Amino acid sequence: MSNNHGRVINFGAGPSALPEPVLEEAAKGLFNFQNTGIGIAEISHRSKEFTSFIANLESLIRKQLDVPPTHEILFTQGGGSNQFSAVVLNMLARWRLLHPEAPAEEAVMDYVVTGSWSKKAMEEAKRLGGGRVNAVADSRQFSQTGKAFDNIPSHDAYKFSRDPALIYYCENETVDGVEFSHEESSPAAFPFQLLGQSTEKQLLPLVADYSSSFMCRPIPRLADHAIVYAGAQKNIGPAGLTVIIARKDCLVDVDAAARLGAAPVPIMLSWKTLSDSKSLYNTPSVLSIYMTGLVLERIDSLGGLKYFEDLNRRKASKVYAAVKEGQDRGVFQKKVKDGSESWMNVVFEVFGEGAEKRFLDGAEKKGMKGLKGHRSVGGIRVSLYNAITEEQVDTLVTYMNDFVAEETKPKAEQ
Ligand SMILES: Cc1ncc(COP(=O)(O)O)c(C=O)c1O
Repeated sequence: MSNNHGRVINFGAGPSALPEPVLEEAAKGLFNFQNTGIGIAEISHRSKEFTSFIANLESLIRKQLDVPPTHEILFTQGGGSNQFSAVVLNMLARWRLLHPEAPAEEAVMDYVVTGSWSKKAMEEAKRLGGGRVNAVADSRQFSQTGKAFDNIPSHDAYKFSRDPALIYYCENETVDGVEFSHEESSPAAFPFQLLGQSTEKQLLPLVADYSSSFMCRPIPRLADHAIVYAGAQKNIGPAGLTVIIARKDCLVDVDAAARLGAAPVPIMLSWKTLSDSKSLYNTPSVLSIYMTGLVLERIDSLGGLKYFEDLNRRKASKVYAAVKEGQDRGVFQKKVKDGSESWMNVVFEVFGEGAEKRFLDGAEKKGMKGLKGHRSVGGIRVSLYNAITEEQVDTLVTYMNDFVAEETKPKAEQ
């Protein structure tokens, strides 16, 4: 256990670890934000100090991700789940404005389903109606059991629609540990080449959920996306803040679309509302924004996303190497197919009667928590978000190696 405030190593999937220097700074801000004499959770969101803080947060995100001027950065609440609905409503409104005369069933929403979260997003699209939902590819079809989300499908499996209202994917599936590769030549990369190029007349309605991989490395082809969104609570801050990177043509007048037959959109779900009000239509999650700003400043001072990309690559490869070592000795089993593994959430099984519990209990004794897999899939999940240090990963890897040695000792020695 670290001697810093009795803290353990938290490998939880979200909310998850935050950098300790940020927690210390935030504790000061809780009492007195930027020498205003008012704590951050108490200050007006319209004060000049807070509005300049949020403007700085926006510019830090823009700088780190190289967000082009075609896109705005919006802040809201409600997490990824709220965006499941907002994506459908705003993108259908946009489609309606582009096709004022077309029958509603011509609005097709393309969903790439590679795990529990994209499946959930697609279910919300079906629930809200207003168009047809097309599962472009469902990775379960390509798993050995026909049921597991354990792979990124190969490119020939994708059946995109012509001129859809939206094309949706989840970059990193937090529960299942499946992620699109960022190597352009990899068969597990997102098949951007199948979508064609955005033209001035026809901009790609591409939407990506980056909730659990935001700011862990650069976003490939960001400029080709209509929307990228993420809840803060994995890599950049506490729960309560959602970041949306929205191409300007998606900030549509939802009321004008409703007059043409689109579904009315709750005012707070309209991206245009957020844009028009500079993300201050209502009281935002001030504390979460503050802490996210501190995390972004830290990312910047450490060398930006390049630093985190290198660090996160090393962290993930160390853990996967330990899983492989355990797998070769019959103790662990990686759940995800080669090439589709997540950098952020490493999932594996522990073989043997009571072995999973022994693994978790032993980890806890060594001050490591949050390793239990999601309740829907079981097993072990190691979340390696930005705040997890390489030393902490080394501690885990040593423990994994020791566990494997112990489990494979001849019975007489145990
Ligand atoms: C990839 C992904 N998308 C969406 C969500 C839902 O986010 P929220 O809990 O912020 O609504 C999560 C939550 O863990 C997630 O990991």
